[in-house]
Amino acid sequence: MSENKKIILTGDRPTGKLHVGHFAGSLKQRVALQDSGEFDQIFIMIADAQALTDNADNPSKIRDSIMEVALDYLSIGIHPEKTTIFIQSYITELTELSFYYMNLVTVSRLQRNPTVKAEIQLRNFETSIPVGFYTYPISQAADITAFQATTVPVGEDQAPMIEQAREIVHKFNSVYGPTLVEPQILLPDNKACLRLPGTDGKAKMSKSLGNCIYLSDTEEDVRKKIMSMFTDPDHIRVQDPGKLEGNTVFTYLDAFSNTGHFAEYLPEYANLDELKEHYKRGGLGDVKVKKFLNNVMQETLSPIRTRRAAYEKDMEQVYEILRNGCVTAKKAAAATLGKVKHAMKIDYFEDVSFLQEQKKRFSQES
Ligand code: TRP
Repeated sequence: MSENKKIILTGDRPTGKLHVGHFAGSLKQRVALQDSGEFDQIFIMIADAQALTDNADNPSKIRDSIMEVALDYLSIGIHPEKTTIFIQSYITELTELSFYYMNLVTVSRLQRNPTVKAEIQLRNFETSIPVGFYTYPISQAADITAFQATTVPVGEDQAPMIEQAREIVHKFNSVYGPTLVEPQILLPDNKACLRLPGTDGKAKMSKSLGNCIYLSDTEEDVRKKIMSMFTDPDHIRVQDPGKLEGNTVFTYLDAFSNTGHFAEYLPEYANLDELKEHYKRGGLGDVKVKKFLNNVMQETLSPIRTRRAAYEKDMEQVYEILRNGCVTAKKAAAATLGKVKHAMKIDYFEDVSFLQEQKKRFSQES
């Protein structure tokens, strides 16, 4: 096992552009972790192979999303000198690890994985579940362990994946001896960030519902989406008392606003609690709250847009960042695969004792 290093591995499936839900739920925290200087190594993976497990017939979607996601990462402030950004499929060691881990997981355990269950329903796979999709928790355990990750910052929906990875680590280490590092999940600390709803108030942001605010949206796109956001349908006149539960505008304020924003854009209120009180009492109109949220979101997104524009002008640099990241990641994964094969006693040509041991066996036997 590695010498008590603190290592982060996380990633996203490249099936489209990333949105503010990703930002609140995980991306923002990754930048903070990167800049904390507390970690020896940070790996962020564009999980194209995992994305193919339920998009096998649409490889061009994945191909185009690689650069979208890379630009999203770079524009939020993931820095290629501090963080290794790489593409999953390039690290062939991960498939090899998955193949060995498959022997340590039962079919019934996979069936019980709540994330897989939910996703099967969502995708209407019913009985025609692709085997690759079904086993992706195993491949995700390979992703995590290949980099000896101690810390996996992800959204709450990924908790069962990390749990399953930990089980695989236990099983592997108990069968083959201590080899793999046990990962910890790291959830965002702000509750509202755990699951940001769509702008229409629906539980999940999804491209097909058209209810996402993307990190790459223009200022005007964002303003329009916020001004038409779902609030309290019973809050008809300004003087009516308003409800906060299920009120998307307030959920977004919970996730994104701070007291600095109030001082700057809405100094009549000291903080979000005061604003909420007024809304509940009545006398506070939705438009005013939405305008404030717009200011908050524009302040959050504007530096992201600026950085993105610079990178978009230099796609060759983005390409090189990915290429270099893949080389670095491949080395790390290869080192772990070497240890795994050694522990499993299948490193025949790397282990000099193999031949000696076999020679002895055969001379004894003859
Ligand atoms: N399953 C993750 C998602 O849906 C992506 C992912 C793949 C991942 N491998 C990972 C996340 C390893 C954390 C660690 O977004």
